[in-house]
Amino acid sequence: MNILVLGSGGREHAFSWKISQSTQCDKLYIAPGNAGTALVGENVNIGVNDFDAIREFVKSNNINLVVVGPEDPLVNGIYDFFKSDEVLSGIGLVGPSQAGARLEGSKDFSKQFMDKYDVPTAKSKTFTKDNLEEGLNYVSSHPLPVVLKADGLAAGKGVIIAETYEDARSTLKEMLVDAKFGEASSRVVIEQFLEGIELSVFVLTDGEHYKILPEAKDYKRIGEHDKGLNTGGMGAVSPVVFAKGDFLNKVEERVVKPTVAGLKSEGIDYKGFIFIGLMNVNGDPYVIEYNVRMGDPETQVVLPRIDSDLVDLLKATANGTLNQVEFSVSEESATTVVMVSGGYPESYEKGHQINGIDSVSEATVFHAGTKAGENGEVLTSGGRVLAITGRGDSVANALENSYNGIAKISWKDEYHRRDIGQDILKLLDK
Ligand code: AMP
Ligand code: GLY
Repeated sequence: MNILVLGSGGREHAFSWKISQSTQCDKLYIAPGNAGTALVGENVNIGVNDFDAIREFVKSNNINLVVVGPEDPLVNGIYDFFKSDEVLSGIGLVGPSQAGARLEGSKDFSKQFMDKYDVPTAKSKTFTKDNLEEGLNYVSSHPLPVVLKADGLAAGKGVIIAETYEDARSTLKEMLVDAKFGEASSRVVIEQFLEGIELSVFVLTDGEHYKILPEAKDYKRIGEHDKGLNTGGMGAVSPVVFAKGDFLNKVEERVVKPTVAGLKSEGIDYKGFIFIGLMNVNGDPYVIEYNVRMGDPETQVVLPRIDSDLVDLLKATANGTLNQVEFSVSEESATTVVMVSGGYPESYEKGHQINGIDSVSEATVFHAGTKAGENGEVLTSGGRVLAITGRGDSVANALENSYNGIAKISWKDEYHRRDIGQDILKLLDK
């Protein structure tokens, strides 16, 4: 079959890498892709939100399955666009409908959904410009720290944890009145701060059945020891030591089952990934957020741990037959460390030549922000440039492979965190 992956990051390189290993995949296309995806498939110069161009491409290239990487096209309704087209409606698309994508596209919607279906989450209240005064009073009597979240998509920047009442009040005003995050902050969710260790659980559902994929922990801040600005993610580790037995059972019973059942009872068409951001609060899971796609860079550690053919899982998701598929997860650990352009997540330079990728044999190099130069060289073209995934029989060994790979790669002003996974190693030591 012919498969089209939409997106251009490390996540999409990991998807294409895994899909290209399937004997069921004839032609693999990535739109728009990067220099890494071009190694395992064919890049197509179409943007992820250009639905008309995607329709033409899918029709003229006999695409049988479309895998949507990022949230944007999902929130913009690509699933519904396919289903309402005579020809496209028969083609499998992995990703939820626009109604389902609201789980990520609107924090207010996702909080209401969790309340309705008894999914454990932080207590919260939503405010708009119209009840600003009420909102200011609400934060002023809220225990500190207090969490303020822009309702809509804000490129991972829309969450502010205020340590003082002054900060909380001014942030609320900036979001609602000064449109700090544009339309995304025209509604603000104010919620209780949860104290615990974070992890993410990934679920594939066809709307009826579900499979729980390997969990992961990511590292969002730019600086070591989780200091500095938020980024898209600087590294990830799987498995997460406490995500087993009792805890994982609680996640399945209290979070996964009511979420899938809730989507069904709302009549929401959902055939895709659910990325559940969780806080482990003294052994109990609380949902921090839902995303309606896989994580980046979490995909770069989750997919390498799936031993089975990913295409079987993706096909069954689109067809509604996930209950008929078995899949196996490797006992191995996987870690990924993201190499970024100096300056990221603020301004950074592009176009630097990357050296040493071909000499890495101990790890898998996933490309994120790269493009091919005129003479076949690989150039930086984004903030997050590469994700180096190591595998091993322990987290420590996987990390060693990631970092040994990194040591062979260089470009001007390259930066990466040196402490990915160190917190997990400490937990393992206990
Ligand atoms: P989000 O964009 O929802 O993933 O939030 C970004 C980050 O803010 C999360 O990864 C958490 O580290 C933190 N965060 C969000 N909500 C809470 C909360 N209620 N309590 C503590 N930390 C939170
Ligand atoms: N790494 C976090 C995300 O993909 O949202």
